[in-house]
Amino acid sequence: MGPLFLPMIRSVSKLISFTILLLFGLACTSFTATEAYDPLDPNGNITIKWDIISWTPDGYVAVVTIYNFQKYRHIQAPGWSLGWTWAKQEVIWNMVGGQATEQGDCSKFKTTIPHCCKKNPTVVDLLPGTPYNQQITNCCKGGVLTSWVQDPANAVGSFQLSVGHAGTTNKTVRVPKNFTLNAPGPGYTCGRANVVKPTKFVTPDKRRVTQAMMTWNVTCTYSQFLAQRTPTCCVSLSSFYNDTVVPCPACSCGCQSNATHPGSCVEPDSPYLASVVSASSKNSYMPLVRCTNHMCPIRVHWHVKLNYKKYWRVKVTVTNFNYRMNYSDWNLVVQHPNFDNLTQIFSFNYKSITPYATINDTAMLWGLKFYNDFLMQAGPLGNVQSELLFRKDQATFTFDKGWAFPRRIYFNGDNCVMPPPDAYPWLPNSGFRQYTSLLTLIMTSLSTAALMYVHA
Ligand SMILES: *[C@@H]1O[C@H](CO)[C@@H](O)[C@H](O)[C@H]1NC(C)=O
Ligand SMILES: *[C@@H]1O[C@H](CO)[C@@H](O)[C@H](O)[C@H]1NC(C)=O
Ligand SMILES: *[C@@H]1O[C@H](CO)[C@@H](O)[C@H](O)[C@H]1NC(C)=O
Ligand SMILES: *[C@@H]1O[C@H](CO)[C@@H](O)[C@H](O)[C@H]1NC(C)=O
Ligand SMILES: *[C@@H]1O[C@H](CO)[C@@H](O)[C@H](O)[C@H]1NC(C)=O
Ligand SMILES: *[C@@H]1O[C@H](CO)[C@@H](O)[C@H](O)[C@H]1NC(C)=O
Ligand SMILES: *[C@@H]1O[C@H](CO)[C@@H](O)[C@H](O)[C@H]1NC(C)=O
Ligand SMILES: *[C@@H]1O[C@H](CO)[C@@H](O)[C@H](O)[C@H]1NC(C)=O
Ligand SMILES: *[C@@H]1O[C@H](CO)[C@@H](O)[C@H](O)[C@H]1NC(C)=O
Repeated sequence: MGPLFLPMIRSVSKLISFTILLLFGLACTSFTATEAYDPLDPNGNITIKWDIISWTPDGYVAVVTIYNFQKYRHIQAPGWSLGWTWAKQEVIWNMVGGQATEQGDCSKFKTTIPHCCKKNPTVVDLLPGTPYNQQITNCCKGGVLTSWVQDPANAVGSFQLSVGHAGTTNKTVRVPKNFTLNAPGPGYTCGRANVVKPTKFVTPDKRRVTQAMMTWNVTCTYSQFLAQRTPTCCVSLSSFYNDTVVPCPACSCGCQSNATHPGSCVEPDSPYLASVVSASSKNSYMPLVRCTNHMCPIRVHWHVKLNYKKYWRVKVTVTNFNYRMNYSDWNLVVQHPNFDNLTQIFSFNYKSITPYATINDTAMLWGLKFYNDFLMQAGPLGNVQSELLFRKDQATFTFDKGWAFPRRIYFNGDNCVMPPPDAYPWLPNSGFRQYTSLLTLIMTSLSTAALMYVHA
């Protein structure tokens, strides 16, 4: 009876764990789908501030400043583009440190031709190397803004514009509407412009303060759901105590469907690789990935490498599978309870970010300037790696129950798909698993019974 009974318990418990996982998965998906903000950076936003610095005979001169207040999401090349709709018949006479992408129909103008006559202009940053007489402070970065934690000084961009056919007092100026921010693809939603207290400017020698004639703010927030329905990154795991390498879950970012989308991925040894990569349009944000079971552009591998008496060591490798993208200024956000005792980190920058004031379990990691801050496109050079040394806290430290593995990982602000917890490498001779399964079984049966009882 025993030998018959045991497999049955196993399969029942498997079924139940599967159901739990499924429910958990569903809960997670619906959570990501509806969350408009990021739990690890709840106040993260991009704020766009317009300061009118002087009036002109038919309008005003304004400095527009874009602050990337997001802790770990940056804007990479080809950079931001900012759009809005004028409230009246405004035109842009000229711009410094930025340009409108289209001039629009300026045929009404005879003598002086405006820079842009469109009702809904789109403005982009100028490129580095712009002549000095066309620059202003914080301009000309090709639209690239770093994240706030990585480099606040470079998380700000600005341009100046001279607006005509506008009001010339703070009573007659109308704030523009319908702000849109692409960075570079979709993902941001901007609120309406609010007139706020005029900004005060302090001169560099701090001996005089001037102020804007009028100021308004727009706040834009990011949602991964809006940006792209599919994830862009996944996590694989391994450890010194078990030979099993737990791969990224299959189809994390898509499936290899050769029937419907031939060429949705490329084999690294394909003779056509070079032509496929170069033929792909430069403006496409669609990744072109190497064929893998997960089809993600990025894989983060966490290897529990060594166990010392007082410390333990982890190796983290980030691999780029995208032939169409070099990730400049990439970053990782990793959550693990031992980050409050991180002792040393090799060849990455590190900063702890504490979304929940008291719990110090989340870290932001990024590359060292000119060494590994540039994650090269897929290929032999398309990876970066580092090792982390943690000090064990005897009260909490264990290799059991997958404790040594990260709770969640973000790459460039996007949540990475983790393997299911029951696939984590086990400790050899771990009796724990049988025990949990049984315990889970008992608990679930009990709660199911309770539920049925309540519903009956
Ligand atoms: C945007 O971020 C800044 C800096 O973190 C914060 O002060 C501000 O309140 C945020 N704005 C919104 C609307 O959340
Ligand atoms: C407009 O300017 C007047 C005085 O010049 C000031 O009292 C008022 O607060 C300003 N309004 C706005 C919306 O800035
Ligand atoms: C702003 O956008 C909304 C929705 O996209 C649209 O209904 C509205 O007409 C737009 N307003 C202006 C002034 O273009
Ligand atoms: C406007 O933006 C500036 C950006 O520096 C920020 O300090 C200020 O709090 C913002 N005001 C509002 C009302 O969002
Ligand atoms: C793709 O094609 C190969 C062989 O041509 C086949 O073995 C594989 O199952 C196909 N994959 C899918 C997802 O259809
Ligand atoms: C990535 O950078 C390398 C070296 O700078 C360059 O040769 C390559 O074309 C870049 N790839 C892409 C997709 O931009
Ligand atoms: C979190 O812990 C690390 C490692 O001990 C420490 O360097 C860092 O300052 C801590 N951060 C906070 C906000 O307490
Ligand atoms: C780990 O960090 C916490 C909080 O910083 C501290 O209280 C504790 O003593 C540290 N443990 C060890 C073993 O260093
Ligand atoms: C390693 O972990 C896997 C689960 O990922 C398990 O199936 C296997 O039995 C473990 N190996 C050893 C030697 O414990």
